[in-house]
Amino acid sequence: MVNFSGKKRVLTGITTSGTPHLGNYVGAIRPAILASRSESNDAYFFLADYHALIKTQNPLLVHQSTLEVAATWLALGLDPEKVTFYRQSDIPEIQELTWFLSCMTAKGLMNRAHAYKHAVQGNLDNGEDEDFGINMGLFGYPILMAADILMFNAHEVPVGQDQVQHVEMARDIAQRFNHKFGEYFVLPKAGVDKDLSLLKGLDGRKMSKSYNNTIPLFLSEKQLKKFINKIKTNLLAPGERKDPDSSAVFQIWRAFASRQQTQEMREKFDHGIGWGEAKKQLCDLINTELQLPRERYYKFLEHPERVESILIKGADKARAESKIMIDNLRDAVGIRPLS
Ligand code: TRP
Repeated sequence: MVNFSGKKRVLTGITTSGTPHLGNYVGAIRPAILASRSESNDAYFFLADYHALIKTQNPLLVHQSTLEVAATWLALGLDPEKVTFYRQSDIPEIQELTWFLSCMTAKGLMNRAHAYKHAVQGNLDNGEDEDFGINMGLFGYPILMAADILMFNAHEVPVGQDQVQHVEMARDIAQRFNHKFGEYFVLPKAGVDKDLSLLKGLDGRKMSKSYNNTIPLFLSEKQLKKFINKIKTNLLAPGERKDPDSSAVFQIWRAFASRQQTQEMREKFDHGIGWGEAKKQLCDLINTELQLPRERYYKFLEHPERVESILIKGADKARAESKIMIDNLRDAVGIRPLS
């Protein structure tokens, strides 16, 4: 195994197929950056641009999103000196590992992956053929994700609830490989903050690009207000008692508030705070946390060359390991020089 640092290695990636939203921030980016600051952790964060191709064939979108996602992490305080921060496609060894793992992975395991099953079900519901519009990238996506994780021997993978199954699959695949070829891989575990990891979106369902119900992370104050006003509420008037636990406004509040602020808002709901007022307070709360990062974010967007050079350095660091890893794995499976 390559990782002998003695620290806990945490690794996570964000797919570069859109603009980061509050759900990504609360569920993945914020906890990951926090974890990266701990001296007992060794953090690996990357831009999952190969994964983006599964979801979109729009080159402009993939390219722009790669810049936006990188700028987001940097603006939120990721320290590229401390964290290994890279772009997936700069590490060609990941593709080779994906193949090794593909040949070790039962097709039946992939049949059970939620993302794939969801797409099949959607087709059946629409009276389409079950394979309609499904590419092999989507089908094999948990294997690519396993390669991301196993390449760097991550112990912990901070992800949203919806990705836990994929991390468990990576663990299964690693186990299988180790059993066959020797102890090459650390068995990874998902790290999820159960309370907050699934932020609700504008319509009260999970905040997700695929539901089109997201609040982008770096909106101007004015736009943020507009989005927050769109959060669905019931028709209770000011003065009428409201249930915090079924409310998206309260749930998002909780994700940004201290314990005490959460308790106070709970009481305000009990006392019938009006939706307009609750939303106004939510807007201020989010704005306070994101104001400075937002300024840094727009600076990075104006200077893509700064972001690029940070990523190139990160890839050098990461490849120092992935090259050794892939050499060992090639040897393990019998791909070796003949003499
Ligand atoms: N599939 C993840 C998502 O859509 C992103 C991702 C790709 C990832 N590779 C990863 C997350 C490896 C953690 C580890 O959110």
